[in-house]
Amino acid sequence: MCMRMVVIWLAAGLIQIAGGETGVEPVELRCEYRVNPEGMDVRIPRLSWILESEERGQKQTAYRVLVASSREALDRNEGDLWDSGRIESDQTLNISYGGSALESRTQCWWKVQVWDRLGTPSGWSSVAYWSIGLLSKEDWSAAWIGIPRPLLEGESEEPSRGHRPAQPAPMLRRTFEINGRALRAILYITARGVYEVRLNGERVGDHILAPEWTAYDKRLQYQTFDVTEQLRSGENALGVIVGEGWYAGRLAWGGWPDVYGEYPRLLLQLEVELADGRKMAVMSNGAWRGTLEGPIRASGLYDGEIVDARLRMPGWDRPGFNDDEWIPVNVETLDDVELVWQRSQPIGIIKELRPLSLTEPGDGVYVYDLGQNMVGWCRLKVRGSAGDTVRVRHAERLNPDGTIYTANLRGAGATEKYILSDSEEDLFEPRFTYHGFRYVEVTGLRAPPEIEDLTGLPFCSRAPEISSFECSSELVNQLMQNILWGQRGNLHGIPTDCPQRDERLGWTGDILAFSQTAIFNMDMAAFFYKFVQDLRDAQTPDGRYPDFAPMGPARNTGRFGSVPAWGDAGVVVPWRVYLNYGDRRLLEEHFESARSWIDFVYAQNPDLIWVNACGNNYSDWVNGDTVRLDGFPDQGNAVPKDLFATAFFANSTRIVAEMAAVLGRTGEARHYSELQSRIRDAFKEAFVQADGRMKGDTQAGYAIALNMDLLDDAVRPLALQHMLEAIERYNGHISTGFHAAYRLMLELSRNGRHEEACRLVSLRTPPSWGYMIEQGATTMWERWDGYVEGRGFHDPGMNSFNHYMFGSVGEWVWRNIVGLNPDEERPGYRHFTIHSRPGPGFSWARGEYDSVCGKIISNWRQEGDRFLLDVTIPANTTATVYLQTDDTDLVLEGGRPVENVEWVKLIGRGPGMAVYRVDSGHYAFSVPMVSHR
Ligand code: BGC
Repeated sequence: MCMRMVVIWLAAGLIQIAGGETGVEPVELRCEYRVNPEGMDVRIPRLSWILESEERGQKQTAYRVLVASSREALDRNEGDLWDSGRIESDQTLNISYGGSALESRTQCWWKVQVWDRLGTPSGWSSVAYWSIGLLSKEDWSAAWIGIPRPLLEGESEEPSRGHRPAQPAPMLRRTFEINGRALRAILYITARGVYEVRLNGERVGDHILAPEWTAYDKRLQYQTFDVTEQLRSGENALGVIVGEGWYAGRLAWGGWPDVYGEYPRLLLQLEVELADGRKMAVMSNGAWRGTLEGPIRASGLYDGEIVDARLRMPGWDRPGFNDDEWIPVNVETLDDVELVWQRSQPIGIIKELRPLSLTEPGDGVYVYDLGQNMVGWCRLKVRGSAGDTVRVRHAERLNPDGTIYTANLRGAGATEKYILSDSEEDLFEPRFTYHGFRYVEVTGLRAPPEIEDLTGLPFCSRAPEISSFECSSELVNQLMQNILWGQRGNLHGIPTDCPQRDERLGWTGDILAFSQTAIFNMDMAAFFYKFVQDLRDAQTPDGRYPDFAPMGPARNTGRFGSVPAWGDAGVVVPWRVYLNYGDRRLLEEHFESARSWIDFVYAQNPDLIWVNACGNNYSDWVNGDTVRLDGFPDQGNAVPKDLFATAFFANSTRIVAEMAAVLGRTGEARHYSELQSRIRDAFKEAFVQADGRMKGDTQAGYAIALNMDLLDDAVRPLALQHMLEAIERYNGHISTGFHAAYRLMLELSRNGRHEEACRLVSLRTPPSWGYMIEQGATTMWERWDGYVEGRGFHDPGMNSFNHYMFGSVGEWVWRNIVGLNPDEERPGYRHFTIHSRPGPGFSWARGEYDSVCGKIISNWRQEGDRFLLDVTIPANTTATVYLQTDDTDLVLEGGRPVENVEWVKLIGRGPGMAVYRVDSGHYAFSVPMVSHR
């Protein structure tokens, strides 16, 4: 059994003061990226763990996995489902289960033992778990139930989708007897709409807006809950409220004509095993009753919720409630739509925010400031009289007079209406809506409220937040916080563009730009795996990827597909998952889809310049041509569309070639890599002159061409120079849109102009990241100049203050200030690079990142004339560490000359740079400073 050493860090370096038996220990067991997942539909699940060790140079040389069908068997070390035996391997990521076939409802307990570099075995890990859900349609005996909405006055029977007001949320219930003691009770549930389920008066689970959004015409996620503890012998009651959500509610601007269905429906199956061996099931079917007379009078994702507390029905979710007035439900059998496991972490509340202030800008108009632009809803305590209507409105910004600014919400009502009952004090919280806001206006109260009456409840898909960052620049610290909040605010089952207006779609271009930053902030593996499926579900048979996914409701809106840099998300996002998590299976599943996208673009553009089939062709969106600032050129900043599109064509083709190589598909690897080099040649021919000047002479054009390696080595410095001149011409600011801004930053640092990148990220004048913060931003803005002092707000038709895509500069911070870079050759952080760069405004930084292989730390500072770098490299991984020095003899580690240090090897030298290969462990390097590059 290995014990962990006790380690103390002192300023001078690392001193190990106490030890024990050494080795590695497997911890943090995960199955398909989730901790103890219930109800999976993966027949061959993949298992991962992390190795913990305080020793340097530690690694795994073998493992043994045991999977048992009962906890007791596993405790006896009997892997009755799978005993892998001792496998010589250093793999800890995504090891495919290799035991007997897993049937629906199987429970699996598992643990792992590993052997370290010397062949010493660890003890067994702690026990982890997964269960299989319902693998096929035949496992479902339940039927869809619901209550058709009544026709509105003057409405015909013809569907009038998308244009009608939101309807009351149906409440559905049934009671059932349990004769005996329940050993195990598992609830499988989903809805066409969004639901909250209750059993015997208590809520089941804490998911919000389940089952979340998928291509409902193809696929619907079910959730699985173990409710054994909530059941009792005798009479039980199930109660479910179902809201319209994405399925039957209003979607996007203008109310599209093709929402998925007319009214919400429920599918539920409760399976109970009794102590005496009997089994029983309770299903959604004709035995249920329902009502539309409940307290939720209307509820829409954009518009908010109306709750009439006078209509509450205490006890409706318990046995003994009189439902004689309720009506029989409508019953429909299952259709072809696939019912799948919810792979990504469900949406849930992540924090509670207390208001910073409460003001009264108008008579009886109260405005709370939560101090943070957040996404979710509020809990509100109110006092009043029966029939009073309290209105709660949400906004991201204030008008100069202190009232809330709502113009940029466009058609989203974002209003809760609470009609009070006669109870003296009441607590309200909506269920089936969400808003993007910092300020909350409350009206309709009889007496002034207290500041503590309101609590902000931000929620999002709970992809684990796995990193922390801090540096000497307060501005950049705030920027990184804003980026994180932008991500939290746009992660609701899908990655959205904005959370406040009548949009909130999975715009593919936005997540393409932001995906690497998103991965630095959170463990996005499960979330992106699911989103890549959404992309495939929305792909046309001819290979086009959509403008956004899921796409269903917009099929008829002319927004379907093939936009350069939007459609390319179908290639870039899965590739990022592979690079960061080592996920090969995703590539296997997705390769054909990615390949067919390239084939489509190629077929439309046989001359290799992408000008045909560009869909809505948004190009480098929200670039300088859309910025309205005196003294800044408002034309000539937009990169030519053909250049932009062709660069993305080349880039995605390169990635598809690399995907093919990873998968061993050599013929395709050759084909796409040849195609890529032909597109690259065509690109150079069409857009690049011998002096490096490119068509349009835009910052964005140079940034993209450099970043995608489309220029010859001799031309790169020339193009860089032209890019710098273009920055100069734009008053020393960035004039690009969101696809080029972070690439421009990355290329400055990569090409020896890191100081310039540091200057740009530190600017406080518009247009810049810093200007947003100067204006009090706590999230990322959609536009560089969303608000300008003296000028006011930009066009409210498109002016969100919570759009993550300009937050893709977070990737630059991670790659260059922290210095952490994943390695394409050894994906999943088996090997990575640490290349931290000090620069103007950056004299120290500390970044911690929980990679799939364990915690990586890069912690550096300038002290006097020395550069100090403490790094932690997880067991079983290695890193290449760049140290800026002219003299390797002066490099110290732990106070000793580095050449005497085991596990650190000099592998390269460049001007002012020494490159080391470092094995796992903690290290404290110290080198004399040279100027940064
Ligand atoms: C969204 C963007 C998106 C764009 C397409 C906007 O409405 O908010 O972020 O990528 O449309 O141009």
